[in-house]
Amino acid sequence: MKQAHVDIKHQKKGIDFLSLNEDHKVLFDYIEKLKSLVNHPENYQYAITILEHFTTHFLEHVIREEQILQQHLPEKVVQEHSLLHQKELNYLDDFASALKAKTSSHTILTIALALEKEFKNHLSKHDKEILRKLSDLKR
Ligand SMILES: [Fe+2]
Ligand SMILES: [Fe+2]
Repeated sequence: MKQAHVDIKHQKKGIDFLSLNEDHKVLFDYIEKLKSLVNHPENYQYAITILEHFTTHFLEHVIREEQILQQHLPEKVVQEHSLLHQKELNYLDDFASALKAKTSSHTILTIALALEKEFKNHLSKHDKEILRKLSDLKR
């Protein structure tokens, strides 16, 4: 997957691009864990725990990301980006309810693929765009 470009020299300028990208990597690791559960019915009960960990990590990440945006970018840009995060948090709520209602290989796979699609899109489009804005600003 194509991730937003990280340039280590920006760390010196006070923007921690590396930790944001590290967060993104952890989120995709959780999605992979969820996908790998599909072939292990004996472990289906862990799907909810993995999704909860994903959600906790996502929340911590968006707080960090939005703090950086607030420090450097116009309010309108921050608000638009925060709305996307809020929409994703709503999806996560829906996914948790669906999993609690029915923990099957179909539900787990559907959720894992939906998460993957949503977050790949968020990263390759929206996060990439804000990281580009931040990096332009600091030149
Ligand atoms: Fe984001
Ligand atoms: Fe992000």
